[in-house]
Amino acid sequence: MSILGGKKILLGITAGIAAYKTASLVRLFIKSGAEVKVVMTPAAKDFITPLTLSTLSKHPVHSSFTNEEDDNAVWNNHVDLGLWADLFVVAPATANTLSKMSNGTSDNLLLATYLSAKCPVYFAPAMDLDMYKHPSTLQSFEKLKNFGNIMIPATSGELASGLVGQGRMAEPEDIVTFIESDILDKLPLRGKKVLITAGPTYEAIDPVRFIGNHSSGKMGFEIAKAAANKGAEVILVTGPTYQKVSHSLIHVKPVVSAQNMYDEVHKHFKTTDIAILSAAVADFTLKEVATQKIKKTSNTLVLELEKTKDILASLGDIKKQQYLVGFALETNNELENAKGKLTKKHLNLIVLNSLNDKGAGFKTDTNKVTFLDDKGNVTAFQLKSKTEVASDLLNKIISEIDA
Ligand code: CTP
Repeated sequence: MSILGGKKILLGITAGIAAYKTASLVRLFIKSGAEVKVVMTPAAKDFITPLTLSTLSKHPVHSSFTNEEDDNAVWNNHVDLGLWADLFVVAPATANTLSKMSNGTSDNLLLATYLSAKCPVYFAPAMDLDMYKHPSTLQSFEKLKNFGNIMIPATSGELASGLVGQGRMAEPEDIVTFIESDILDKLPLRGKKVLITAGPTYEAIDPVRFIGNHSSGKMGFEIAKAAANKGAEVILVTGPTYQKVSHSLIHVKPVVSAQNMYDEVHKHFKTTDIAILSAAVADFTLKEVATQKIKKTSNTLVLELEKTKDILASLGDIKKQQYLVGFALETNNELENAKGKLTKKHLNLIVLNSLNDKGAGFKTDTNKVTFLDDKGNVTAFQLKSKTEVASDLLNKIISEIDA
């Protein structure tokens, strides 16, 4: 999934010939997982029909303050549209509209919406080459950039006038890529590599049986999504689970046993900035795995187990720049045990969850956690969804690594 997935994009279309390309732009935004609404200037309707855009965006398209097709005129609320949007993209942006935007003119719905919008605003200019170079247009660009709006520069090429030069609206694919990179570059974990373990491990007994546990992997997957949504490149090492994730920044590395997980984690740890080990790793594994299926010939069966390697402790022993986070699932003396693990395994942070808390632990969608950090801070949270817990955890880590 693209970083635009789930975002609400308001597309503002003004009266330039490049408006015909906005049909593709709407489709690309939707393909990237965004929801799109369109607002246009009245003159833009000469270049592309509202019907095309409403069909593609699956939302009504507005171009005036009242709904003119409706006998009982309905007011199209520009404030609501502006507040709805996570991003406002004006494309194509004509010299006329850019000038009005930079001067606070609001004589159409698109401009009033621009003045009401609180979200980031992108504009993709499109005009003839001489208009693009005119000091007045350059002044509009500068003013808008000073307001914090983001310009998606026009490209050079043949223009509608037949002249060749700068002024062609960036191609729809390039507009999408530009916005995606801009959002990613501003995220707090951009450039950071986060290593996460999730799920259970399965320790083979024979070719058909194994020792496992009830971990669903949900907590680890939520942490992976939260980290990727904050711009990190994520390596998600997961034991067998039904969880699914599709995100361009998450690289899933499926493993089965504790030893597989240990090996995979160590492949990536050196270049990792943050490691969060949430997997429920088996503490014991079979000393010897039977090569054939064990037959039920005797009344009892004794399996000899040996300790697995503690992955978290092994990382604590070798860590350098890495911020290391572990989990502790406890049933008694929770705080004391968690503090003990924090120190013993050389962690920066430990997330404690107690099996005594209703709604915490395995197979639930919720968790109730307490963070204990290496500076002695203890923060207890209410019962929350695992998505919210993941977000709290990432926010805590970001505040610590920024400090
Ligand atoms: N862990 C690990 N490798 C193991 C066992 C545990 O990386 N072989 C990690 C888990 O992912 C978790 C943390 O260690 O982040 C705590 O696991 P937990 O089972 O609660 O604690 P243990 O240290 O194994 O101690 P005990 O089972 O005695 O409570």
